[in-house]
Amino acid sequence: MRFKISLAVSALALSLAMPAFADLRPIDFEKASRPAKGFVVLPVGKDGALTGLAKDADKASNGALSKALGLAKFTGETGQTLTLYDAGPFDAVLFIGTGEGLQTATDLRDYGAHAASGTKGWAESAKVVVPDAGDVALDATEAAIGARLGSYTFGKWGAAEIDDADAAAPQALIFLSPKAANAEAAFQKDGEAVLAGVTFARDLISTPSNIKTPEWFAQQVQGAFAGMPRVTVTVLDEKQIEDLGMGALYGTGQGSTRPPRLVAIEYKGGKDGDAPIAFVGKGITFDTGGISIKPNDGMWRMRSDMSGAAGSAGAILTLARREAKVNAVAVLALAENMPDGNAIRPGDVLTSMSGKTIEVLNTDAEGRLVLADGLWWAQETYKPKLAVTIATLTGAVVGALGREHAGLFTQDERLAADFLKAGDAVGEKLWRLPVTEATAESIKSDIADVKNIAESGAAPGASAGAAFIMEWVQPETPFVHLDIAGMAWENAGRPTEPKGAVGFGVRLFDEIARQYEAN
Ligand code: BES
Ligand code: MN
Ligand code: ZN
Repeated sequence: MRFKISLAVSALALSLAMPAFADLRPIDFEKASRPAKGFVVLPVGKDGALTGLAKDADKASNGALSKALGLAKFTGETGQTLTLYDAGPFDAVLFIGTGEGLQTATDLRDYGAHAASGTKGWAESAKVVVPDAGDVALDATEAAIGARLGSYTFGKWGAAEIDDADAAAPQALIFLSPKAANAEAAFQKDGEAVLAGVTFARDLISTPSNIKTPEWFAQQVQGAFAGMPRVTVTVLDEKQIEDLGMGALYGTGQGSTRPPRLVAIEYKGGKDGDAPIAFVGKGITFDTGGISIKPNDGMWRMRSDMSGAAGSAGAILTLARREAKVNAVAVLALAENMPDGNAIRPGDVLTSMSGKTIEVLNTDAEGRLVLADGLWWAQETYKPKLAVTIATLTGAVVGALGREHAGLFTQDERLAADFLKAGDAVGEKLWRLPVTEATAESIKSDIADVKNIAESGAAPGASAGAAFIMEWVQPETPFVHLDIAGMAWENAGRPTEPKGAVGFGVRLFDEIARQYEAN
């Protein structure tokens, strides 16, 4: 699902090669059998304990493997790795610590990610022994998904194009499973679906904002979903946005020469006439802050300020690819927030599509503006049975929760529980934060219905953002807001989230959709 583009840069019409997707090692599944030679990946428990096929491998080496683990003082801590070459009958062995034992699907994904990174560049295909985890049905499938998630790379702009034959390294990762055929089938369907969604989101987020205009974003979506059954993509341009009275979305984008778009991706895999679940994503293709301009330090990262929209779009791609039995729609509110002679000013008043008026006290609180209109339009158009806004909305949520949890805001106890559970299941963790009456009060304006920021100190910042968006929730709409400002961009790198774009929301929304499918 990589997009190829060429870009006209100024009058030179210079063409810039899109980074080529470098790591596409073939993934295979084989019936589990005793490893006795070649290139292998083995799990190691606490204090270097070898069990199952790993123990068999040790026997095949006449104890050379366990001896090496002892000499290296390998403790078997989760994620610890050690590589041996020419060990007994094996050409290479990668040990991966599994601690007290793996429990969940995300543990297995991490294991698979370590297997992929630890065997990169090996001369031959590696056979991966997959440990059992809790009551996960197809352990090898999860490990394989993790391998792919972890080896995502966006590549480099302008580097020579790698042709497809070179791009796919010859050595495969072969996951051993007692149910190899089932594991492979599940990987081909659900696994590839999740990977397509996450990769699409990551590619969109990684793309620099000189290329990533709202119009470009809309075109990528049209391209990615072209010809997909049961999917309808609708794109509203700036004139339609203005004519529909979306003053908040229009106003946010009016300082940019690259006008806003509203994109809807509707997927109908459920019953006819069944109300969809709606994911409404913040899609600021670059956030300078506008006239309330941001300091330069780290501003480049604001090319990821469309991560909510990317996660929403990616989730629909996943649902469509795995033919989920659910109706769902992503609504992407796309605009670029720039300072300009035509930009909105602090103190301006905008009228949103619902008729509600907004006093803009800070043009850098723009995500809530585009979401107000996106959310209202989504409700008017689709009457969803659940609406979710997802946004890199506030620095405050990063202060509160850091880079471990996204903020979850809802007045609905059951939805809170469902989302917390889904987040844990897929490793996109959430933490619930409050939206109180006092916070809702703090954004009342003297000259309009609401203002887009509270007075300094009057309310917690992330909650004030949520309270603002909740002003556009219709009484009958079950609603959840997610603030992913701390989660959208990975600075350090984790096993299944390499440095850079995370694609947060794809796995979570896929899991949420499964909850609705089950009902
Ligand atoms: N896109 C930013 C929030 C953000 C900050 C995302 C850091 C990712 C990392 C958002 O538009 C913003 O500027 N929020 C302001 C709101 C404030 C003016 C009320 C903020 O958090 O400072
Ligand atoms: Mn901003
Ligand atoms: Zn922003």
